[in-house]
Amino acid sequence: MSCEAPIGIFDSGVGGLTVAKEIMQQLPKEKLIYFGDTARVPYGSKSKETVTAYSRQIIKFLLSKQVKAIVVACNTASALALDTVSKEVEVPMIGVVKPGAKVAVQTTKNGKIGVIGTEATIRSGLYPTLLKAMNPKLEVYEQPCPLFVPLVEEMWLNDPVTKEIAKRYICGLQKQDIDTLVLGCTHYPLLRPILREIVGDQVALVNPAYETAKYLKEVLSLKKLECTENKYQSDHIFYVSDGAEKFRAFASSILACEMIETKDVNIKIFD
Ligand code: DGL
Repeated sequence: MSCEAPIGIFDSGVGGLTVAKEIMQQLPKEKLIYFGDTARVPYGSKSKETVTAYSRQIIKFLLSKQVKAIVVACNTASALALDTVSKEVEVPMIGVVKPGAKVAVQTTKNGKIGVIGTEATIRSGLYPTLLKAMNPKLEVYEQPCPLFVPLVEEMWLNDPVTKEIAKRYICGLQKQDIDTLVLGCTHYPLLRPILREIVGDQVALVNPAYETAKYLKEVLSLKKLECTENKYQSDHIFYVSDGAEKFRAFASSILACEMIETKDVNIKIFD
């Protein structure tokens, strides 16, 4: 596999852009091929079988673009499908849940961690399992937030309605005296200003993106796959399964790079 090959990255929609942004910052020489499954978002209300089947199709598509590594920039797919699908391919594949859990353990001081995520991620129980494996004394409190993903996809990032919904989701966790809150869905960092207002400064908000990009860098270096050329900067390509124009507008507002290309792709043919 060539070092100049791109890195594949995927999510159910725009959420993975929060991870892509971090990768662009920490690995500026790498070229990204992003896939957002906008036709089938949200993943968080779907079964393990469905999310695994969708992930397989996307991985097949990314491999057709000759990617040298794949980042599952979706907590739901990381929790439900990563274990299975990573065994089926030869390129290194990394998810966001383990890096997120690692940061949370390093961040908490009182040992009380809150985790918010999609229904499927919370149902999987993966965050508490990983957190307690690192420190059995931790207290972990979870809250699914199913309305957040549609609100983010609609760009209602600073809307009073979103704030009201967020308050209702978070109040139970606040009562548990948590000092750390894991944003266990890649869409949620886009709600950070609202969440910060609600929890105040005494609760640390953990976004797994930074640690994921750091881990990706380590993996690429270990496998001698780091790109050393400068020519691929901002040569990224963004594919979606529906609504390329809407996605382009959103992505341009989130990413610091000019969007070179946003294309629609029929993902179902990659079965
Ligand atoms: N952004 C994804 C996650 O991290 C998926 C959200 C969804 O599609 O429900 O879980």
